[in-house]
Amino acid sequence: MELKQQILKLLEENRGEYINGEEIASKLFVTRSAVWKAIKALKKEGYRITAVTNKGYCLLPDNDIVSLESIVPYLKGEASTFTLEVYQSVTSTNTLAKELAGQGAKEGTVIIAREQTEGRGRLGRSFYSPASTGIYLSLILRPKLALEDSIQITTAAAVAVAQAIEQVAGVSTSIKWVNDIFIGDKKICGILTEASINFESGILEYAVVGIGINLSTKDFPKELQGIAGSIFTEKPTDTPITSILIAEVLNQIAFRMHSLTSKEYLEEYRKRSFLLGRDILVLKNNQAIPAKAIDIDDKARLVVEYEDHTRESLSSGEVSVRPN
Ligand code: BTN
Repeated sequence: MELKQQILKLLEENRGEYINGEEIASKLFVTRSAVWKAIKALKKEGYRITAVTNKGYCLLPDNDIVSLESIVPYLKGEASTFTLEVYQSVTSTNTLAKELAGQGAKEGTVIIAREQTEGRGRLGRSFYSPASTGIYLSLILRPKLALEDSIQITTAAAVAVAQAIEQVAGVSTSIKWVNDIFIGDKKICGILTEASINFESGILEYAVVGIGINLSTKDFPKELQGIAGSIFTEKPTDTPITSILIAEVLNQIAFRMHSLTSKEYLEEYRKRSFLLGRDILVLKNNQAIPAKAIDIDDKARLVVEYEDHTRESLSSGEVSVRPN
C-alpha cells in the first residue's frame, strides 16, 4: 500500500481526532517529512485535513471523499470480504465491471466511481452521474441462476438498496417495478443488471449489478427535471455519509445474495411497491396500453390486468403510472 493510503487509513480510523506526526511516522516506519509530504498530497486531492502544531493531523468529520479507506470500516459480514476498487472518474462502472468479470474477476468485486462520464441506464438510456453528489457502483456476482430467474438479482438488489437508504438516511422509500427506487414521487436510484450467460448450461456466468443513487444532485438535465430527485437537499456534514451508504448497500446485498430464490425478500419488495393497485400504462411495441398493477408474483414478475380483464405476468419491460 502506498504511504498516502496508509496515512489515510490511519486518519480514517481516527476521524475527527488529531494524530501526532511523530506517531504516524513511527507506526509506518517513515520520516516525519515523508508524512508531511503525503498529507500535502492528500490535501491537494481535496481531503479535508487540518494540521495543528503539537497536536498533529486530523481528518475532519465532514470530509466526504469516497475512498477504499473511508468505506472499509463500515463493511460487515460477507461484504467485508469484497474487493473494492475506487476511481475518481470512469466512463461507466458497469462497463468496467463487465470487462473485469469477462477476465475472471471474482464474485464480490466492486467498482466504485466518484463520477461517471458515460453512465448507462436501462433500455439504452444514459444515467446522469455528476462528481461527488451521487453513488455509482457496480458489483460482480456469480449466482448459479438460470437466465429466466435473473430478474430476481435486480429485485433483491432493489430491496437491499431501499433498506440501506432507509437505515442510513431515515427516509421511507418505494420501489417501482422492476428496479427504480423512489422517495415520494421522485426517482432517486436506478439499477442496471447486465449478465453473461453460458449457452450450454443456460446458467449465468456472471451478473453485474450497477447501482446509481442521487445523494444530493440538484442540477438535473432538463429531461430529468420533475422526475429525478435526491435523498438529501444538502448532505449531512457530520458523517462520511456517502461512504456509510455505499458500505450499507454492500452489506445488505451481501446479506441477500445467497438467498435470491428464497422469496423472503419478495415480501419486502411488495411492501414497498410503488405500483400495486395503481392504474398504469404498459409500454410495449411503441404502444402504451392501459392496465392495473395487480401483484408481484413469486418470480418477481409484475402481474397486470388489462381493460378487457385479461391478465399478463411481465418479466421485463417498462411501465409508467397513469396520470389521474
Ligand atoms: C436506470 O435507472 O435505468 C438504471 C441506472 C443504473 C445506473 C448505474 S450507476 C452505476 C452503474 N454504471 C452505469 O453505467 N450504470 C449503473
